[in-house]
Amino acid sequence: MLETEANLGLNQKMNKIGIGLVGCGTVGSGLIRNLPKANPLIGERLGVNLEIRAVAVKDPSKARETLPVPVVADWKKVIADPAVQIVVELVGGTDEAFRISEASLKAGKPLVTANKALLAERGRELLSLAQQSGNPIYFEASVAGGIPVIKVLREGLVANQLLGLHGIINGTSNYILSRMAEAGSDFQTALQQAKDLGYAETDDRLDVDGIDAAHKAAILCLLAYGFLPVFTDIPVEGIRHVSAQEVSFARQLGYVIKLLAVIRPVGSDRVEVRVAPTLLPSRHPMASVHGAFNAIGLIGNLAGPVQLTGRGAGPDATSSALLADLAEAAKNLHDKSPGPLLPKADGKIRLIGKGESVGRFYVRLEVEDRPGVLALVAGIFGAEKIGISSVLQPEGHGAGSVPLVFLLEAAAESSLHKAVALITKLPNCRAPARILRVEDLS
Ligand code: HSE
Repeated sequence: MLETEANLGLNQKMNKIGIGLVGCGTVGSGLIRNLPKANPLIGERLGVNLEIRAVAVKDPSKARETLPVPVVADWKKVIADPAVQIVVELVGGTDEAFRISEASLKAGKPLVTANKALLAERGRELLSLAQQSGNPIYFEASVAGGIPVIKVLREGLVANQLLGLHGIINGTSNYILSRMAEAGSDFQTALQQAKDLGYAETDDRLDVDGIDAAHKAAILCLLAYGFLPVFTDIPVEGIRHVSAQEVSFARQLGYVIKLLAVIRPVGSDRVEVRVAPTLLPSRHPMASVHGAFNAIGLIGNLAGPVQLTGRGAGPDATSSALLADLAEAAKNLHDKSPGPLLPKADGKIRLIGKGESVGRFYVRLEVEDRPGVLALVAGIFGAEKIGISSVLQPEGHGAGSVPLVFLLEAAAESSLHKAVALITKLPNCRAPARILRVEDLS
């Protein structure tokens, strides 16, 4: 930083804003570690400084050398502390986190949270509490780690109608799929590595079963369309059933498999939101988003396609987002500004119905290796008016059965399931089908 007269003057007027931290695991420790480095920059750029003044954790007896202030077990003390002006909720989960957030807003203290489950599952209550109390909630760290996608939607693309969003928004799953595709790792080894690197949730089922990505998709939907779907209505599929065989067949067809969230308007009053392992063309820029990196594609009616890529998980990337929120919250407090406006739901938008989604699919069957079987299967797809764009039937599988892999043209999900149900009833069909989504993203 250049110590010019101008910024020396600014520093003298610098306002210190008190922060209270509730929860201090991987993400909280990252925040504490990075705050001293970020503070001079925030001071120089915004004229405010952040100071952690109280911390609550479940078990204060555990050694936490990095903590700059005494640690208490009772989070209510942090919220009640008059030196705390902004509360950061980092406990995770939805019950206690909701009570902490509610108490913070009711105490007149803006809330900063990285908790996507809380926003996706209890966002309606929380946003109405924020409105009633007149205190803002900041949640940049809840989606895609270091990628400032919330600010892009809230500010950068505020004048655009969003024609659709899609994203790789779970770093752990992307890390696992990348390791399987590139290093031939098995699922469990890759998952353990993701945990060791601090990417995975405490309950890693949230990552591998697609729930974490669906939480983030719900939040993106809220920002893009002013509509927070009922979380349990979002179709979600994780990556457990994506085998090395699937990864290899996809590659042979010119695709990679990514856990993809899709949020797109359907007509004027419905939105499709889903999370599923999806084949993307190998030549698409998102196909080369590897490891814990995330990518989000947004299509604005004015801006056109925008793609953001960056670190989606890990303590440093997440603390970048938390510090951005804290800086904004502190600046707003200092300026007595009301804070970010959140989209108002007009109540008219709803999710599309089950099976109504239209898209392309990958289907792998295990069938009896005898003449006429391929024709039978193709006939069933044809009868359902589903076009076939590619077929793969590798040689040398032996034992009288053979994998039969189809890439299909766009079809309604309900027709696809009807066709697959008929196919798997054929006496020549040996194993239930593997079905994956295909998105060309063109
Ligand atoms: N577990 C999450 C992920 C962390 O893997 O993306 C960031 O939200």
